[in-house]
Amino acid sequence: MSKPRLLFCASEVYPFAKSGGLADVAHSLPRALCSTYAVEVVLPLYQCIDREAFGIKPLGEEYAVQMGGISYPVMLYGCTYEGVAYRFIYSPLLCDRTFLYGPPDSGYEDNALRYGLFSYAVVTLLKKEAYSIVHLNDWQSALVALLIKEETIIKTKSVFTIHNLAYQGVFAHQALLELGLDGRYFSMESMEFYGQINFMKAGIAYADRITTVSPTYAKEILTPEFGCGLEGFLHFHRHKLSGIVNGIDTKHFSPSQDKTLVFPYVDLRGKAVNKRAYLKQTALKEAKKPLFIFVGRFASQKGLDLLIEILPDLVKRECTIAFLGEGESKYHQALEALAKTYDTVHVTCGYDEALSHQMYAAADFFLMPSLFEPCGLAQMIAMRYGVLPIVHHVGGLADTVQDYTSFTAQSAKGYGVVFSQPKAETFLAALDDALALYTNKRRYNKVAKHNMRCDFSWQESAKSYLEIYETLRAQSSHA
Ligand code: ADP
Ligand code: GLC
Repeated sequence: MSKPRLLFCASEVYPFAKSGGLADVAHSLPRALCSTYAVEVVLPLYQCIDREAFGIKPLGEEYAVQMGGISYPVMLYGCTYEGVAYRFIYSPLLCDRTFLYGPPDSGYEDNALRYGLFSYAVVTLLKKEAYSIVHLNDWQSALVALLIKEETIIKTKSVFTIHNLAYQGVFAHQALLELGLDGRYFSMESMEFYGQINFMKAGIAYADRITTVSPTYAKEILTPEFGCGLEGFLHFHRHKLSGIVNGIDTKHFSPSQDKTLVFPYVDLRGKAVNKRAYLKQTALKEAKKPLFIFVGRFASQKGLDLLIEILPDLVKRECTIAFLGEGESKYHQALEALAKTYDTVHVTCGYDEALSHQMYAAADFFLMPSLFEPCGLAQMIAMRYGVLPIVHHVGGLADTVQDYTSFTAQSAKGYGVVFSQPKAETFLAALDDALALYTNKRRYNKVAKHNMRCDFSWQESAKSYLEIYETLRAQSSHA
């Protein structure tokens, strides 16, 4: 019997285009579903994607997508990469830009139209071929859930995954007309949001199931503190909502097979070689001192304000600190200024996949004082590379990192230093705990080695997604 078909839609997918964890999930989750479903992953063919390197070829002729009375040219492209089928939507409006979503500090003004067009183009795929499930991710593809309800010939069931409720795709009311959507969608039950339209609401209202990326975040988003104004709306739809923790691609993030490392390693002695190599490459020497790293988006979500606040205190301790990231310019400036002032602080601005691996391999501690964190992959990658993450007990960090004081070798979970309040005193106290632990080499090494052996793969979580798909398929066969 042939496998049921799944179309997985995302606005970024590693290795084609990546700004954060969504790209990692859109790369690795489909691979974990492939044995049960015939999966195709669809994304925009941004101009940064190297068509030749990936063998991306046109699939058929250019066609027109109608949206708000305007006809937009669209071409479908495709390739198979590492055994996975990828589909790319090309349209000048959507793709011919320098950045994915907009320059740092802002989004492109016509993002409603760009991702509206992406969603309409996905719907044309769903009309042409019989997919059992369409899996939508974040606001950029949320509109698909609404659009397919208008198409009676589409029998596909939809799953909408919220990776980050802080980014909702909110635009001026007029965009509704340009998107060719009926005025009835401008209501509280639908896309209306304080006089504007909200793409995320379309996903929540019309998808057959909603998931988010950790069980704790699934609970948090029902509260005013983390609900970003949608807590009431989510509460209303909570019967459709579940939290499934992300996994990571354990082949891509594998210290023993990682080709970006000077010395792939299976133990902490091997890891030390990578630390020395990284320190040599930066101006940081001091291999004996613990190395703290931060790899991530320079955004307030990641606790950057807190990190910048405590840094002058942290540098007084015996340690070195390295940052890799890009994002808001105020954080670039503040961090670069700190790096100029203190010779134990190193900052690399930009996106660099290979360097990120080298830093995970070099580090002793990973800094993740996020104010909120839907799941977080960086802390899992860090643990896989034998690092102890220092995390705020929130969202997916609470689900994936246990405090080292409760360490038992039998646990399947990873360990780090967990603190409860995203405040300078509590964070500094956690950093002092980390430094004290580091002086007890036997104890520190035990935890680091344990982390390297933990299972951060998709195995269990993929089963939870498959269960959701199966329930939906059973519903459509009874319909
Ligand atoms: P988020 O999705 O909120 O950005 P996650 O922790 O879920 O955070 O995922 C971040 C992913 O992006 C990780 O794979 C991390 O290593 C990677 N990453 C973030 N910033 C950079 C950067 N500047 N260079 C290389 N990799 C980065
Ligand atoms: C988002 C979240 C992050 C999560 C990632 C992948 O960007 O900020 O916590 O891990 O999506 O789901």
